Amino acid sequence: MKQLTNNILLFLVILQGLTSCSAIKNTSNKNWSAVIRPGTIWRDNNENPIQAHGGGIIKIKNTWYWFGEYRGKDVQPGYRYVGCYSSKDLAHWTFLNKMKFSAPDGFSQEWILERPKVYFNKKTEKYVMYFHLDDNHYKRAEIGIAVSDCVDKGYHFVKHFRPFGMESRDIGQFIDDDGTAYLIFENRPTNGFVIARLSDNYMTLNKVCLVHKSLEGGAIVHYKGLYYVIGSHLTSWKPNPNVYATANSLEGPWTTFENIAAPNMNTYGSQSSNLLKVQGTKSKTVIFIGDIWKPSTQWDSRYLWMPLKMSNRKMYLPKPQPWKINIKTGKVKLIKKDSLDV
Ligand code: GAL
Repeated sequence: MKQLTNNILLFLVILQGLTSCSAIKNTSNKNWSAVIRPGTIWRDNNENPIQAHGGGIIKIKNTWYWFGEYRGKDVQPGYRYVGCYSSKDLAHWTFLNKMKFSAPDGFSQEWILERPKVYFNKKTEKYVMYFHLDDNHYKRAEIGIAVSDCVDKGYHFVKHFRPFGMESRDIGQFIDDDGTAYLIFENRPTNGFVIARLSDNYMTLNKVCLVHKSLEGGAIVHYKGLYYVIGSHLTSWKPNPNVYATANSLEGPWTTFENIAAPNMNTYGSQSSNLLKVQGTKSKTVIFIGDIWKPSTQWDSRYLWMPLKMSNRKMYLPKPQPWKINIKTGKVKLIKKDSLDV
């Protein structure tokens, strides 16, 4: 009888060992994303190409939301659309909505809504969308704000303005590790990038710094105690060598700007829109998110997502190739065999 009890106990211990091992194995496999292929057509859960150009990404709990210009062929004249997608692994994106906006009062049917960024305000529990609002000659140079109780629908315009009375064109979004929300906008008359902090309810801005450099497509990341700002030169939809500078604080002083890749690569045909930090248990990865614009076939514009190499206060964009990320550990695997030319 004692022998039988011992055997049963041994069997239970082995069984438990086996099941817990397989559980660990499954979890770790599950945490690897699917392969991300920079520059190729990136399809959502409905097999449609993702329409979230000039986008911004926020993480709420364990879900990322990607917002951007929806430029699909199914848009109606006079309206502008913001695409909204969600993902748990940064590779598979579920289409949530294309939010339709009509021109604010005083704007013609040719109005412009570009580079939408959505922030979630924990205190007010509102989703606050900032966007570049303009006329078709880019003369108004304003910021628009729309607010909703839902992440993917119900946004209504609240106001539009020139921040601090300044022209504002391309905007970028940055949320610091302590949760403070910032906006960066391009101001042509001062040849600069303005960094501004959002107020408590996210409805007004406070000026933090003017970075003296004629750049657009601005984005910021905070990585290992250092702030990095990135931008592209003013060549409209055409790609150019994007540059970055660093500072110990957002107020500056900022270093001089340096190229993020060999200048003749022209940022591999893309333009900066976002620097997304994935904070894993083992490493922090910063993903360069750029747009590969196709001005005459905008619906076919692509994305260049590529993990940056960051060390010794330097940032470097490697040649695009397929990769995947472990969203738990933050580690990245490059998949060398089918390297891409974009
Ligand atoms: C780019 C800008 C885009 C769009 C375009 C229009 O420089 O980054 O968001 O405004 O110009 O020409």
